[in-house]
Amino acid sequence: MTIVRTPLVVGNWKMNGAFGANQSLLENLLRGLVQKRLPEIGVCPPFPYIAQVGALLANTPIVWGAQTVSEHRAGAYTGQVSAPMLKELGCTYVIVGHSERRQYCAETDDAVARQAVAVLDSGLMPIICVGESADEEATGQTLAVIDRQLAPVLLALAGVADEGTTVVIAYEPVWAIGTGKTPTPEGVQAVHAHIRKRLDAAGLVQTRILYGGSVKGSNAELLFALPDVDGGLIGGAALDAQDFSTICTAAANRMV
Ligand code: 13P
Repeated sequence: MTIVRTPLVVGNWKMNGAFGANQSLLENLLRGLVQKRLPEIGVCPPFPYIAQVGALLANTPIVWGAQTVSEHRAGAYTGQVSAPMLKELGCTYVIVGHSERRQYCAETDDAVARQAVAVLDSGLMPIICVGESADEEATGQTLAVIDRQLAPVLLALAGVADEGTTVVIAYEPVWAIGTGKTPTPEGVQAVHAHIRKRLDAAGLVQTRILYGGSVKGSNAELLFALPDVDGGLIGGAALDAQDFSTICTAAANRMV
């Protein structure tokens, strides 16, 4: 089997946006991407804007997704949004287990695994986030934390995964998110290689591993040149059309 991992760049808008701002951001982004060689590109706005973003991006090279999802399909879960609903909105991706969800919404490793399965069950692609905190990094626990977070996901996928199963893993060191700090390129590659080893052992060899945490137009080229970095999950810079477009171009360079 040939292993093809098309580079992927996904913008996580977090809790940002407004109808007018979304429209100008996407129009500027689409203008900036014209005639460039592109990686796969996605944007994940807050729930209330998914329909608007879907309408603006229909028939463009950019797809869209959501930032979280319920593990349940339907029922008495006030305030939750299910994967079948996201499918109806034309989503391609759903981010699960972002550190901000783990931290502020007390999402556990097991809950994240159940969400990933719910996403797959609806024919969507989960982007499963893992990453260590500053304290965990300082005390040398990075790989142990990644293993702990990945274990229930890999176990759950073993039950549902087949050759066509597509998941994406995003390595986001919590201390690098929104701080302007990134690990060294060697540090990023070491963690990605570790994740790759776990994925290979689980038979998920096609899985793309994204890096997230203070990726900007200025450092994307360096990060995306690393052998096991298949693209990025972008926060702040995804809200700037020019920066995001530069990041997309840097990921496309992996295809040469
Ligand atoms: P920043 O790119 O703002 O550091 O955020 C990364 C992130 O959390 C993407 O999910």
